Amino acid sequence: MIDIHCHILPGLDDGVRTLDESRALGELLVDQGVTTVVATPHVFDIRYRTPSGDEIMNRWLRVKEALDGRLNIVCGAEVRLVPEIMTVLDRREIFINGGRYLLIEFPGELIPHGTENLLFELMSLGVRPIIAHPERHPRLLADPDRLAGFVRMGCYAQLDAPCLLGKRERRRVVLGWIRAGLIHCVASDAHRPRWRPPKLIAAYQEVEKACGPEIARALFIENPQAIVQDEELPFAPAVEPARKLVGGWWRRWWWT
Ligand SMILES: [Fe+2]
Repeated sequence: MIDIHCHILPGLDDGVRTLDESRALGELLVDQGVTTVVATPHVFDIRYRTPSGDEIMNRWLRVKEALDGRLNIVCGAEVRLVPEIMTVLDRREIFINGGRYLLIEFPGELIPHGTENLLFELMSLGVRPIIAHPERHPRLLADPDRLAGFVRMGCYAQLDAPCLLGKRERRRVVLGWIRAGLIHCVASDAHRPRWRPPKLIAAYQEVEKACGPEIARALFIENPQAIVQDEELPFAPAVEPARKLVGGWWRRWWWT
């Protein structure tokens, strides 16, 4: 598998704190069948200082050495979609493997006015935005038509693996999104070996059981591989009409 979202660079955010933890997390990923991981530290997250290019590259080199060829690690970032994003587009290390795909997350619990314009602007410059964990965003949960709108615009969407392993109703919602063509890949969003560890194998099995082996392969292997190689996604189905999407009535107890 290819994991496009992982906080494996030490000491930058709420991910791993030390090189030893990076190594341990890398070993867990290898155990899960991951061959390439994208290191995605937070950028423009108000809780953490945005790392410089040198800070990212130095840590990437050290983790790469520590993993000793057992796991391929490439650079990327999890970038908050704020207007300042336009000022960092020359920083190739925040794009996945230096290509055109950019992992973005919405700031806070709202979708700010102008979000569509900002995304259009990015895409007009050749950026391919991947929306990180839409299932964790209250507005998108309450109104998946917004997510459908972003996907129709040309954005992609990535689920965190644990959402496929939670309560039955949660699984039903995100599996419905997969069937509706809203989701393009699943990633670990792993943070530390013990806290928010990677759970890709169990998530893969869940998708395989619910949606079939082709879709599981597409979401965990083929699309992530294309993203890392900066190619068109082989699996990007048409989005189902909005009326077929699962509604937002579960929002209140998603987090309970
Ligand atoms: Fe993350």
